[in-house]
Amino acid sequence: MFEVEKIRTEFPILSRKVYGRPLVYLDSGATAQKPLAVIETVDRLHRELNGNIHRGVHFLSEETTTAYEAARARIADFIGAAEKEEIVFTSGATASLNTVAYAWGGRFVRSGDNLVVSEMEHHSNLVPWQMSAERQGAELRMLPFDDAGALRIDLLPSLIDERTRVVAVTQASNTLGTRPDLRPVIEAAHAVGAIVVVDGCQGAVHGGADVRKLDCDFYAFSGHKLYGPTGIGVLYGKRALLEQMPPFLGGGDMVDRVSFARTTYAPVPLKFEAGTANFIGAIGLGEAVRFVQRFDPAEVERHEQALLQYATERLSAIDGLRIYGTTPRKCAIVSFNVEGVNAYDLGMILDKLGVAVRTGQHCAEPVMTHYGVTGMCRASFALYNTPAEVDALAEGVARAVKMLK
Ligand code: ALA
Repeated sequence: MFEVEKIRTEFPILSRKVYGRPLVYLDSGATAQKPLAVIETVDRLHRELNGNIHRGVHFLSEETTTAYEAARARIADFIGAAEKEEIVFTSGATASLNTVAYAWGGRFVRSGDNLVVSEMEHHSNLVPWQMSAERQGAELRMLPFDDAGALRIDLLPSLIDERTRVVAVTQASNTLGTRPDLRPVIEAAHAVGAIVVVDGCQGAVHGGADVRKLDCDFYAFSGHKLYGPTGIGVLYGKRALLEQMPPFLGGGDMVDRVSFARTTYAPVPLKFEAGTANFIGAIGLGEAVRFVQRFDPAEVERHEQALLQYATERLSAIDGLRIYGTTPRKCAIVSFNVEGVNAYDLGMILDKLGVAVRTGQHCAEPVMTHYGVTGMCRASFALYNTPAEVDALAEGVARAVKMLK
């Protein structure tokens, strides 16, 4: 039995009230709440273990470095990386994806090449490639999705060719919930020697990842969506690719020898960790991963899928409500609109009822454009949500619609 009520006691924020009502937090896709294990670890680190990593011979530095590298190893294990050196700590998925676009793209993308990006990408896995295409004189190609929210895998042969260098695709859409079958995408890319860059922000939370089995080349995710601290993220890259790639940022800790004539760089992953890393965030993320690893992933998936199914049923019963993204394997994210109702207005009334959802474009404007809308409401679930919260959402939407129509 998945004991959600017991799990909720580990998340202090979930028992707070907003506007005098119990908080119903359905915006975990934007940022997840933190369990006590993470909160207390971050607090303890500030109280007891704050020494800069990789730089000191003193006790605190040594101990912090050990904890930082242990977090790296835990995260490598969590996503199935071959070795911990394939895990680069960044400030978040956006920084991870920009690192690949600048550093790998800068060296390996040439004028006349093309970059294939899926239409359902979060802006973080689209805009860096658009900028890279502009810088390098390459062409940006869109891999579309259909109205159900399924990626048009059938179009791959017409989009990927011998000049394709990069295919950028999400493991789980933050708006549609779609979890595309990445195998044919990765096979088609590899067949022409292109690399595949996967945005794992939602996927790492909903189902996890096995990067070696997936055989993706780069994989990015953020700590704060995975019950960890903000300002910390991960870039996984196959070692050979990380080694070929020049550094993105220069500075302390990423060097081997420095002179005015020439600088040589530290081995991977430190080559990509210039400046003082967010070591407290990284250790906190390690703790968040330890928290997630306490649960059977199949049970978490069952729980979240039950919430998704119940939310889908209850919301679909509301007159004029349309859900965007109806693919069978989708994760627990429901984006919707109600005919004749503005998504922002709906979100604001829900907020006053204590229900937190995301409204707007969800950093995925091309998805909005696909459906011809300016915004959507989105409820995104996490392992701590309950069916009663789905009721609060559905009742809140019904009530708001009555007021707004
Ligand atoms: N990318 C985050 C979301 O989907 C912020 O809400």
